[in-house]
Amino acid sequence: MNKEIANFDYYNPTRIVFGKDRIKELSTLVPTNKKVLVLYGGGSVERFGTLAKVREALSGHTFGEFGGIEANPTYETLIKAVKLVKEEGFDYLLAVGGGSVIDGTKFIAAAALFDEEPIHIFGSGIGKGIPITKALPFGTVLTLPATGSEMNSGGVVSIVAKKAKLGFGSAVTFPQFSILEPELTYTLPKRQLANGVIDSFVHIMEQYMTYPVGAMVQDRFAEGLLETLIEIGPDVVDESNHDYNLRANFMWTATYALNGTLNKGVPGDWASHSLGHEITALYHIDHARTLAIVLPSLLEIRKEQKYGKLLQYAERVWHITEGTDDEKVQTAIDKTRAFFESLGAPTHFSDYELGEEVVDALVSQLESHGLTAISERGDQTPEVSREIYKNAL
Ligand code: NZQ
Ligand code: ZN
Repeated sequence: MNKEIANFDYYNPTRIVFGKDRIKELSTLVPTNKKVLVLYGGGSVERFGTLAKVREALSGHTFGEFGGIEANPTYETLIKAVKLVKEEGFDYLLAVGGGSVIDGTKFIAAAALFDEEPIHIFGSGIGKGIPITKALPFGTVLTLPATGSEMNSGGVVSIVAKKAKLGFGSAVTFPQFSILEPELTYTLPKRQLANGVIDSFVHIMEQYMTYPVGAMVQDRFAEGLLETLIEIGPDVVDESNHDYNLRANFMWTATYALNGTLNKGVPGDWASHSLGHEITALYHIDHARTLAIVLPSLLEIRKEQKYGKLLQYAERVWHITEGTDDEKVQTAIDKTRAFFESLGAPTHFSDYELGEEVVDALVSQLESHGLTAISERGDQTPEVSREIYKNAL
């Protein structure tokens, strides 16, 4: 186990355009010599007027539209957009939506220029996992702070026919720019606001809650972001609270949680996400809600392996000063669970009327996707994952 900060490169080419009334700047952010395809989801952007602002800003451009990208975007839908892009010669994409629309757009950008069948973008026993080396340029207008997709190069796609939800990524799938207007979050319902807080929280934890390597900058960044979410989370989920700074802080925390800053030179886990994606694939529970089920249980089962960081987390993030080390660690785990519950996200399968039958089904999904040696040390075997799922019943 290496206790030194590992070598790293730090590269993030996404321009962030943050603040009030920025959508109109699409007129100059998007090159005028491009044929633009505007992509969006199930209609919230139409309903709340965001699309109207985008159309207005692009009035000097040639553009088309493709709507209907679902939450947990499906390969089946995205392939239709790839066909449209190729047939009509679109050469610039603009995602207007949350993580699902942005991830979907990344996939379309890569698939449109992919030399093989796009299914081979994925590995995990579904495709050949051929690296992405080129993609159409694209920008985004973010409407839901949660995934960090607006400033990273990864995406997650559901392949319905295979009951799989798989990730992809490359150095060429960063957005060229992302517009972050905190006021766009004012139309979000409580459930999505809570999802945003929890997804961001768990992104930070996946990069922080491993073992200490003495990376002071990465650790303090992570702890500051976690403390921010704990402080603002209860107000963020009050959908009637339209305090500008509250939502601005929320939006920037969610972006920073997964923009490639926290993971530099430190071990990463991502087991909560791997276990969570299988839950979404089989039982269609929202991404963040699967994490609320998995993470507290994982921390309990993996307490020994994560002990050093759990103690640091207890003392620095939750400011627990009383009791033995064991008591501090357990209190921190209890507080994490209680935080998710307080935001309205249940932490057990039974809350979704799911029982013991899920355990075998989920473990066999993990095995079929090759997720048999996960976590920061690669020692989370299917047996350990089984314990984590069981502990969350
Ligand atoms: O589809 P519409 O009608 O637009 O409604 C959406 C959708 O139903 C609605 N919504 C979005 N902005 C709104 C709004 N409703 C009112 N007002 C607004 N301003 O919210 C619903 C959920 O949207 P979605 O984009 O699915 O949510 P989220 O941003 O949480 O994205 C989830 C997806 O991102 C993936 C997840 O796995 C999941 O597929 N992730 C992507 C990551 C990445 N690219 O780095 C990392 C994450 O860990 C995550 O895996
Ligand atoms: Zn996530």
